[in-house]
Amino acid sequence: MSHVLAVSNQKGGVGKTTTVVNLAAVIAAHGKTVLVLDLDPQANATSGLGVEPKSGVSLYNALVDLENLNDVIVGTSVENVNIIPSEVDLAGAEVEIARMDDHLHGLQKVLDPIIDQNVFDYIIIDCPPSLGILMSNALAAADSVLIPMQCEYYAMEGLSVITGLVERIRTSGANPKLRIEGVLMTMYSHTRLADDVIEQVRSYYGDAVYDTIIPRSVRAGEAPSFGLPVVAYAPSSTVAEGYFAFGKEFLDRAKAWELAADKIDLPASPRSSDLA
Ligand SMILES: Nc1ncnc2c1ncn2[C@@H]1O[C@H](COP(=O)(O)OP(=O)(O)O)[C@@H](O)[C@H]1O
Ligand SMILES: [Mg+2]
Repeated sequence: MSHVLAVSNQKGGVGKTTTVVNLAAVIAAHGKTVLVLDLDPQANATSGLGVEPKSGVSLYNALVDLENLNDVIVGTSVENVNIIPSEVDLAGAEVEIARMDDHLHGLQKVLDPIIDQNVFDYIIIDCPPSLGILMSNALAAADSVLIPMQCEYYAMEGLSVITGLVERIRTSGANPKLRIEGVLMTMYSHTRLADDVIEQVRSYYGDAVYDTIIPRSVRAGEAPSFGLPVVAYAPSSTVAEGYFAFGKEFLDRAKAWELAADKIDLPASPRSSDLA
């Protein structure tokens, strides 16, 4: 089955979209097939992957008319990365979903047939920067959440807001399987403050924080205007190196989750104390 990963943080400008397009590109280079779902009406992931936003080509029609989502999947500037683009009209999707009987699971309903087809190893959702209905729908449809955050002073407060929402989505029964995939620190520059923030986040969230830290680099800001992830636009830049390392760490961790899940089905093995 496809793994659905929501990349979320209610704050804008923390590196969600940059993380979505670069993670997609790196894991595709590792042989995974990826579908990006651009859920932000600003369509930055769409243009950042070299696709021009077009009216009528987004999740919107599928939500409104229950049209087949397959019809709006398009290829991108990166091999093995496809996208369901966004467009300005997607802002209206909030209203359409709110009108549905089960307004938390609207997105899940339209995504289910694609998940069942199992064409994509990963479906990566680029969430909008708000706590609105699109974001809740993304969390209700996701297997796990990846939280990018900037190494800045109020980072911890922001992080507790999103982890609190994840917890509510899980315990309310909206999506009991939802888990936190990890926290990725972004836009790091060598300052005392950044180091303090990372240390603080690590002390609260422990292993959930990835070892890889994405450095700040102007190359990251240049790449989108070429319709390319920075790992393709400037592969030897520090920020691209960061995303290559992160993609690998992400896949290694995913593998560990898989192995742990497999173990659940095995009969419990005797503990050494039982054998003694
Ligand atoms: N590592 C980085 N170094 C420098 N600039 C970055 C980095 N990551 C992202 N940016 C830039 O910061 C801005 C916000 O990043 P973006 O990924 O769009 O955040 P979000 O999707 O959370 O709003 C964009 O202009 C992006 O190009
Ligand atoms: Mg964004």
